[in-house]
Amino acid sequence: MPSIPEPDVATAESGAGHDFVVVASRLPVDRVEEPDGGTSWRPSPGGLVTALEPVMREAGGVWIGWSGDDGPEPGPFEANGLDLVGMGLSAEEVRDFYEGFCNATLWPLYHDVIAPPQFHRHWWEAYVAVNRRFAQAAAQQAARGATVWIHDYQLQLVPQMLRQQRGDVRIGFFNHIPFPGYEIFAQLPWRRQVVEGLLGADLLGFQRRADATNFLRACRRAVGLTTKGSTVRVGGPGGPRDVQAAAFPISIDSAGLSEIAQREDVRKRAREIREVLGQPEIVLLGVDRLDYTKGILHRLKAYGELLNEGRLGPPQAVLVQVASPSRERVEAYRELRDEVELTVSRINGEHAEVGSTPVHYLHQSYPREEMAALYLAADVMLVTPLRDGMNLVAKEYVACRNDESGALVLSEFTGAADELGGAFLVNPHDIEGLKDTIVRATAVSPAEARRRMRSMRRRVREHDVAHWAQTFLTTLDGPTVGTDPGATAY
Ligand code: G6P
Repeated sequence: MPSIPEPDVATAESGAGHDFVVVASRLPVDRVEEPDGGTSWRPSPGGLVTALEPVMREAGGVWIGWSGDDGPEPGPFEANGLDLVGMGLSAEEVRDFYEGFCNATLWPLYHDVIAPPQFHRHWWEAYVAVNRRFAQAAAQQAARGATVWIHDYQLQLVPQMLRQQRGDVRIGFFNHIPFPGYEIFAQLPWRRQVVEGLLGADLLGFQRRADATNFLRACRRAVGLTTKGSTVRVGGPGGPRDVQAAAFPISIDSAGLSEIAQREDVRKRAREIREVLGQPEIVLLGVDRLDYTKGILHRLKAYGELLNEGRLGPPQAVLVQVASPSRERVEAYRELRDEVELTVSRINGEHAEVGSTPVHYLHQSYPREEMAALYLAADVMLVTPLRDGMNLVAKEYVACRNDESGALVLSEFTGAADELGGAFLVNPHDIEGLKDTIVRATAVSPAEARRRMRSMRRRVREHDVAHWAQTFLTTLDGPTVGTDPGATAY
């Protein structure tokens, strides 16, 4: 691995640079190796880039992020007319920072210890070092008085590290995953450093009110600070400062997805999917990253029992489960994949007949058009995480159902459950309850389905990802959020 040069902070302090800087663990593009040995960049259109692209273009912004591999550091470049700065991670940093501290310490800890978090001091050191490099890159890219928006659990120390170098910039941070209750957070040996790292921001955004209040509690308990409503008062060399912590539930590009779902080629593909599935009355669908937080095994257990009991199954009903590959070198993810695949094979082995398969399992990622076709083909969407910051799949399903049909079974333990009142809410740990709810959702009358879907569609349409970004950025530029603890600023 080539050595990674330290950015030159002096350039930005001389006044050059960008007025809007996004700092996220991932770039909005993927590196593609060309057959001639060269490299090109393919857009990886996530919700975040859709939301921030207009702001980036208007403000002449820049996006700092990691390319997702341990190849050479890309540095500054342009792709699709956007200014990007690609950060490099060495093979050791991929192991200790990305797979280690981010995805084997923080991820399980913040998702209510569904898997046991591992605490290793050398992983923490890698986290500090990588956060420092991201902070330096941000300091280098930001113009005087710029707005810098830092994203997610991989970069929690960046706000403070950036503030120490650049007292002139306005700093926002958004946590895309849950922030755990203090009893759980307190396990983290570096809990004080993480809270102090975050408190370098002016505004901290969380998915749900509960996450914001959990964070405020951590400020009191881990650092001994005083909080008033949604405000934390912090000291510092420039005198006391107020940091706001509030909920800003993230969303999707609802109009864009709804339009894709109206396209004739996509609707045709949805009909084809139902045909190849054998024209069942009911198509159940699960779409997740293959992650232990998503409750895939609970869902399969419930569906398997429904098959055993003869309450659901082919030829009347089939389940399609898309499980996109994720973090495949992390042990807990490898174990989960084995367990999911064993469970699917067992169910299919016991219940399939020639030409009729109860579970269609797809360990792949698909483009947006194919996803929209799957959402259109599905009568019942199963979203059953054990813990999820938001869950955008639930919102995507709703956005695609232009004819207001279809039913959403949604775990109470998702951020989306706070917003989507028209869903059939479930506790995925309660397998009997999950089974009954799935059956109820498959049997819902068209009138009731429409009533439920209509209310969810209104919510997702009005509160789309552009609304989310705008609300956050307006709040970041404004004086305060309000004094309600964990006020929801949407
Ligand atoms: C979650 C996190 C993101 C992360 C994504 C994919 O949505 O909130 O920060 O980028 O998962 O995970 P990965 O490890 O592939 O970046």
